[in-house]
Amino acid sequence: MKYPNLFRSGKIGKVELANRVVMPPMATNLGSAFGEVTQELVAYYRRRARGGVGLIIIENAQVDMYQGRSLTAQIAVDKDKFLSGLRDLAEAIHAEGAKVFLQIQHGGRQCTPSTTDGLPPVAPSEVACKFLQITPRALTRDEIQELVEKFAQAALRAKMAGFDGVEIHAAHGYLINEFLSPYTNRRTDEYGGSFENRMRFLLEIIERTRMLVGNDFAVGVRLSVDEFVPGGLKPSETREIARVLEEKGVDYLSASCGIYESVSTIIEPMNFAEGWRAYLAAQLKEVVSCPVIAVGVIRHPDVAEKILAEGQADFVAIGRGLIADPDWVKKVKEDREEEINYCIGCNVGCIGELFANGKVHCAVNPWAGREFVFCEESKAERRKKVVVVGGGPAGMEAALICAQRGHEVYLLEKEQELGGQLRLASQAPHKEKILWFRDYLERMLRRSGVRIELGKEASVETVLSYNPDAVVVATGGEPVVPPFSLDPSVTATAWEVLSGKVDIREKKVVVVGGGVVGCETSLFLAERDNWVTLVEMLPQIAYDAEIITRIELLKELNRENIKIMTQTKCMDVQAGKVVYLCDADSSTSELTGDYIVFALGTRPRNELYHELEGKVKELFLIGDARSPRKIYQGVLEAMTVAVQV
Ligand SMILES: Cc1cc2nc3c(=O)[nH]c(=O)nc-3n(C[C@H](O)[C@H](O)[C@H](O)COP(=O)(O)OP(=O)(O)OC[C@H]3O[C@@H](n4cnc5c(N)ncnc54)[C@H](O)[C@@H]3O)c2cc1C
Ligand SMILES: Cc1cc2nc3c(=O)[nH]c(=O)nc-3n(C[C@H](O)[C@H](O)[C@H](O)COP(=O)(O)O)c2cc1C
Repeated sequence: MKYPNLFRSGKIGKVELANRVVMPPMATNLGSAFGEVTQELVAYYRRRARGGVGLIIIENAQVDMYQGRSLTAQIAVDKDKFLSGLRDLAEAIHAEGAKVFLQIQHGGRQCTPSTTDGLPPVAPSEVACKFLQITPRALTRDEIQELVEKFAQAALRAKMAGFDGVEIHAAHGYLINEFLSPYTNRRTDEYGGSFENRMRFLLEIIERTRMLVGNDFAVGVRLSVDEFVPGGLKPSETREIARVLEEKGVDYLSASCGIYESVSTIIEPMNFAEGWRAYLAAQLKEVVSCPVIAVGVIRHPDVAEKILAEGQADFVAIGRGLIADPDWVKKVKEDREEEINYCIGCNVGCIGELFANGKVHCAVNPWAGREFVFCEESKAERRKKVVVVGGGPAGMEAALICAQRGHEVYLLEKEQELGGQLRLASQAPHKEKILWFRDYLERMLRRSGVRIELGKEASVETVLSYNPDAVVVATGGEPVVPPFSLDPSVTATAWEVLSGKVDIREKKVVVVGGGVVGCETSLFLAERDNWVTLVEMLPQIAYDAEIITRIELLKELNRENIKIMTQTKCMDVQAGKVVYLCDADSSTSELTGDYIVFALGTRPRNELYHELEGKVKELFLIGDARSPRKIYQGVLEAMTVAVQV
């Protein structure tokens, strides 16, 4: 067997698990606004259980709906009225053969007024969260006692609802983590100060929980082994915490990291290496004998297998990887790795949607979070001839789903390679993972019998020559060029730079436009020893990036050979000069450069669509050709269109 460790059965407490893959808790916002489990939520988890994962740890269920909510549609477990929905959820997962735990959580100081209906968040001490810019109120001792009871009662409800265990959320800067950490706990009573005092809240919770649920029910704890903030928890102290927790009888530890102030280590964007934080699990494994779960950008089976084989952890958690492809485990087991749709870490559809009070979805898997509404396996009533124009992500996804639904599909791409703008995006530093999606789609298209015609620029005549029943136009976009007369020997678009058409090295370059593309092009140029000035008319740059990705992008841009000028509007371009208007004092000035590079956005390329209107029976326009946005929107439109054909 190729991955013997991954497919060894395992045990957590008394719970037998079929393999070593765990789906870690990931909030979905698929609950109701009042905390109930919904049918959408059940369908989402059932789908993941069907994919063969050994254990699903259900997202952060709220132990205190009054004061602890950290999401607008978070599920709750603080009252008996939630039992029936939770029971449906546990039953659905068991029916598919997986085991299921429930994570129980209180958001502490990382709640916002929008989730606590205007109440200030509570915490061990009044230490402001720099990420949310909110100062919490310190809990009284009576309130702490009430919360101990709430956690324990929540665990008991999980047991009553048929779950196999609970995970106490003591990580990611939420309430229990705040008590453990000297960074957030400044109390002077018996719940703060010394190591023993900071541990007290969690230990009381565990003690009371055990009293209520007994020893046969699994109780685990998720920890941030390193908080990655100055003065916060470091692995040396977390190892001590782990030792005490094991003595207290916890059945497993989940080794996570980070708090909101270091949020990019919790849900890593694309620039983090695969498996980078397995060492944190290994740190715990050295000091405890209960099972330890590793997590964090574990994408490929060989990476997962290595973590287990080297003894860094007993279980591997694959989070976003299972949102992107719920069949990850099944495909690995059946030697169908080529068919895995890997998470690229864009964070747009999952945590990006949650930050915007939306529901969990996925840029590379349009079905995710929509399982209750759309049926992935639905077949077309009649086989049709479908022509898809454009081999970017939107066109490829549409072609694939049309083929999977039983249609005869032709995919026409004018370039010699598929991928569209993904090829440009992959050129920016640390964005290679974006091509995993292109490669997956290409492999699947070839397997699904789609006729791919490369180097074929489609005109109306070309399209009509196929005599199609349906046409999907996914011709993407092209870069906006400013309305000035430009000297091509010293000006270029970001696309020309990233594609290698224009090679600029060791020059003074002005990049006009500070959205994601302008920022990434600046990095690309800076890595080629250019001196870059990035000019943006808005008050901030990378305004179009997902929040966590933006944090990392700004860090990367903080380098000697990149200067950033915001509130600076480009008014004209003359030989080697950018004339700009400075918003602050309305003055006009000039910037000189050996090269001027434009990153002014994308214009939809939709002429073909308009020319085809009225000439074919079914005609659709999707992706950037409809309106330039991101992979997420194009792929979603591809799915919604493909299920109609
Ligand atoms: C530098 C850069 C970085 C980016 N980073 C991200 C990111 O991190 N996350 C994210 O979500 N999005 C990112 N994007 C945006 C994302 O790549 C696009 O939103 C997405 O590729 C749009 O997909 P699409 O299929 O609609 O169009 P495209 O990707 O533009 O594909 C259209 C395809 O159609 C082909 N075509 C056009 N006309 C014809 C014709 N007449 N006949 C045949 N073929 C034709 C083109 O050659 C092209 O291959 C980035 C874009 C760029 C440029
Ligand atoms: C959308 C989303 C929601 C998350 N919600 C939770 C949560 O409720 N509780 C938790 O402990 N971790 C949560 N996490 C963190 C994940 O459990 C996991 O540790 C993280 O995504 C890194 O693993 P991955 O690279 O395999 O996705 C969430 C992550 C995502 C992407």
